[in-house]
Order: sequence, then C-alpha cells, then structure tokens
Amino acid sequence: MTTAILKVENLTKTFGKTQALTDVTLTINPGEVFGFIGPNGAGKSTTIRILLGILKKTSGAVTLFGLDPFVNSSAIHKRLAYVPGDVYLWPNLTGGEIIDFLLHLNGNNHTAYTDELIRKFQLDPTKRARTYSKGNRQKVALIAAFSQNADFYIFDEPTSGLDPLNEQLFQEEVLNLKRAGKSVMLSSHILSEVEKMCDRIGIIRQGEVIETGTLAEMRHLTRTQMVVKTVHPLDILEERDGLYDLQLDALKTTASFSVDSEQIPVLMDRLAAADILSIQSNPPTLEDLFLRYYGDEVAPAKE
Ligand SMILES: Nc1ncnc2c1ncn2[C@@H]1O[C@H](COP(=O)(O)OP(=O)(O)OP(=O)(O)O)[C@@H](O)[C@H]1O
Ligand SMILES: [Mg+2]
Repeated sequence: MTTAILKVENLTKTFGKTQALTDVTLTINPGEVFGFIGPNGAGKSTTIRILLGILKKTSGAVTLFGLDPFVNSSAIHKRLAYVPGDVYLWPNLTGGEIIDFLLHLNGNNHTAYTDELIRKFQLDPTKRARTYSKGNRQKVALIAAFSQNADFYIFDEPTSGLDPLNEQLFQEEVLNLKRAGKSVMLSSHILSEVEKMCDRIGIIRQGEVIETGTLAEMRHLTRTQMVVKTVHPLDILEERDGLYDLQLDALKTTASFSVDSEQIPVLMDRLAAADILSIQSNPPTLEDLFLRYYGDEVAPAKE
C-alpha cells in the first residue's frame, strides 16, 4: 500500500467562538494534483496552515508523508514547497536575493532552471522587493517554489495576483510537476481556474468539505449557461441530453439553458446548423453552483 502524501481526518479548528473547520477529511495521493476549492473564508488557508504546522489544530488527525507536522516539522519541510496566499517579502532585499534565500531555507540551490523560470515569468530579479507589484511578489515566491526539488507543492490561491498570461505560465509549470510525478495541492475560489490541472477536487464551504472527487465525478457541477439566438427554430434542443433549464421563446429561435461542459462540442454543431445570430456563454461561478446544488442543504453561516 502506498502512503498518502497528505491525510486529513476529521480536522476541526476553532478560533475563539469562530468554528473555522468542522470534520475536514481529505487525502492526496502520490502524483496527484488536488484542487481545494471554496469561497472566501471557507477555511482553505486555515487547513493549509495547520498541515504546515503553522497553526495548531483543535482536534482531528493530519499526516504528511505519514508524519505529524507538529512533531516532524523539519523532516516534512525538506520535502515541501509552499506559496502562501499573501506573499510577504523582505522589502530591502532584491527579488533574486529572496529567491535564493527561500531556496536555501529548504536546502535547495539556485540552478539553471531557476534562471529559466525568472526569464519565463519575466521577473526583474535586481529590483528591491518593496518596489514589486502584488503579481511580481507572487512571482518571486512561485519561482522559488517551482525551482525547488520537493515531493509536495502547496499553492494557496497562487494566481490571484497574476494576469492571464502569467496564469497560463503557472498552469504549465504545475503540469510539468504533474508529469514529473510530484504531488500538488492548489487552493482557489474559481473552479474553472484549476480544472485544467487537477486530478481530483475537494470543495469546502463554511469549514466543511461538501464534495470530493475526480473531475468526471463532478461533471454535474460544471455547467455553462448559454443564451442563443438563431435564424431557424431550435426544436432539436428539446431532445438533447445534457441540457438543463431549457427555455425557448414562441418562435423557438431564442433559447436559454445550461449545458454540461462535455456536451458543448456536439451542441455547437447543432446550433450552427440553425444559423447562429448571437451567442452568450457564462461559465458557472462557484457561488452559483453552491446555490443551485446545495442551497438548503448547506448549514447556515456560522457567526
Ligand atoms: N487567526 C484567525 N483568528 C480568527 N479567525 C480566523 C483566523 N484565521 C482565519 N479565521 C477565520 O476562519 C475562517 C476561515 O478562514 P480562511 O482564511 O481559512 O479562509 P479561506 O478559505 O482561505 O478564504 P480566502 O479565499 O478569503 O483566502 C474565516 O471565518 C476566518 O475569519
Ligand atoms: Mg485563504
């Protein structure tokens, strides 16, 4: 039996009267990219801080590489790369100095790959950190993490400050790690942002994990909403599987519906055959999904 990279069982955390985590249970296996998805305040960073040994749990069990992060902290940190959500950098050091310092902290060295990453993310490593924008500060931490040779990489909302081009570069690097058989935990509040990279996803809301599974298992969560106007009537939509909440106007040339992601290619052919005049498509936001699928089942907000 292979040892899980990360095992969290019935993890609970309270801050005074605030119950931040309730019975959080999740596993990340070797070679897996795991997406940890949830809205603001859901408990993503709290979970991550506990498994890094930065915060103390209230109850439950956490192991990394089969070890307890509070007892075996240094052994664990040698095998870990972590990028926090709000990157703090020493203001008077340059980006390059900070990258090297972060690498040395974890027993790694600046390599040719570090230089490649600096070029790739177009970071000027000679500038002092105090002059960097949020995105540039994030790049410093990401470059240090990606040039580490770790077994497990934890990124807490890593793309929140990155523009679309850099977000794509980030995704490429995560896929490189995946190809190299590394394990990755990626927290985000946007499902569509991580779905390209993740093998499995856990959805957390108000401190509770409400769904865990592969993307295929969660396919029902990823529906796109569309409004289409066509020249010819869209009767054909009435018989299509994978369409939901279909509404057609009297002429049947304006349709609104939501559609499973995997059905979109076939659907587009059908729509094109009816001569599309206009089309609007909105990927579901996480909040929409929660409201649609969990509405009343989700416990009321804990104040
Ligand atoms: N040090 C703290 N003291 C008191 N409450 C805290 C502390 N840290 C977190 N919390 C509370 O715990 C809950 C979970 O917060 P957490 O930062 O883990 O959320 P998150 O999922 O990372 O959100 P975000 O997407 O905004 O980063 C929130 O209600 C937050 O207010
Ligand atoms: Mg957070």
